Amino acid sequence: MDVPGFALITGGASGIGRACAKAFVKEGSAGIAVLDVNSEALEVVKAEILREIEGRQNGSTKATCQVEIYPVNVTSEDQVNYVVNEVARKFGRLDYVVNAAGIAIKHEGGAAFAKTSDWQRVIDINLTGTFFVLRAAAKIMLEQEPILSAVDGRPLQRGSIVNFGSIQGVVGITLSTAYIATKHAVIGLTRTASEDYAGVGLRINAICPGYTETPMTTKNPQVLKAMQERVSSAVPMQRMGSSQEIADGVLYLAGGRSSFVTGSALMVDGGYTSR
Ligand SMILES: NC(=O)c1ccc[n+]([C@@H]2O[C@H](COP(=O)([O-])OP(=O)(O)OC[C@H]3O[C@@H](n4cnc5c(N)ncnc54)[C@H](O)[C@@H]3O)[C@@H](O)[C@H]2O)c1
Repeated sequence: MDVPGFALITGGASGIGRACAKAFVKEGSAGIAVLDVNSEALEVVKAEILREIEGRQNGSTKATCQVEIYPVNVTSEDQVNYVVNEVARKFGRLDYVVNAAGIAIKHEGGAAFAKTSDWQRVIDINLTGTFFVLRAAAKIMLEQEPILSAVDGRPLQRGSIVNFGSIQGVVGITLSTAYIATKHAVIGLTRTASEDYAGVGLRINAICPGYTETPMTTKNPQVLKAMQERVSSAVPMQRMGSSQEIADGVLYLAGGRSSFVTGSALMVDGGYTSR
């Protein structure tokens, strides 16, 4: 996937972010910084990744990958600014940013009964957190020389940012006022920021996963059951996606294989939004 540089992944302690962290390592990135509000889960993921790297080094000659973890709440402007700059200082540059941190809340009774505190929490994490990370990373990326392609040595982007939309960034579903609003907004943020920097080699795209098996969707058995019923009729492929399948889309958008792609919203959804 042509991702030889240094990656920063938010929400990397679980689900899709965790799969993305592992995928960058597998595809030969020089270093990854994994950020999450859950510091215990971060330690677990780091240990898993180091074991995987060690296993591969025993079996083959593949070079290693620098793995750093940072407990960060993406709603804190100060924490985000500090850590993004610290990662760039440690690695010497910052090539790929994956904005996977996010939460989902259902509002019983729908929009009329949505609590202000729920609305605010979802906006703070999914939208404002994404903006804080994008802003801090873009400032760094704009100052650095383009990374060279691992495939053919041509100069690629100065940096590539992948934000997390969702199928719920382009359609509505019930009881999801705040979540749907943030995912539509993340696609808008992606489009306007990509326009700002398309001419200077900073690419910004959104990935839009469909129903995907992660702790977000499987931890509540009732939510999972309702989702599986919906998936069987609403998703042309009639199944949920895996975190790895979403990570593959992220790698494509982050790396050199998508060098002419910016401002896009890539649906990885088993055909859901094609109906
Ligand atoms: N799972 C799906 O079906 C699905 C579908 C479409 C989009 N998405 C999006 O994909 C992204 C990843 O979701 P997932 O399914 O892997 O969920 P997940 O719950 O497994 O992982 C989300 C991670 O974000 C972290 N996080 C939450 N709040 C944070 C904060 N304030 N600061 C830092 N980290 C924080 C959590 O600790 C967790 O590790 C989210 O943006 C989600 O909206 C998921």
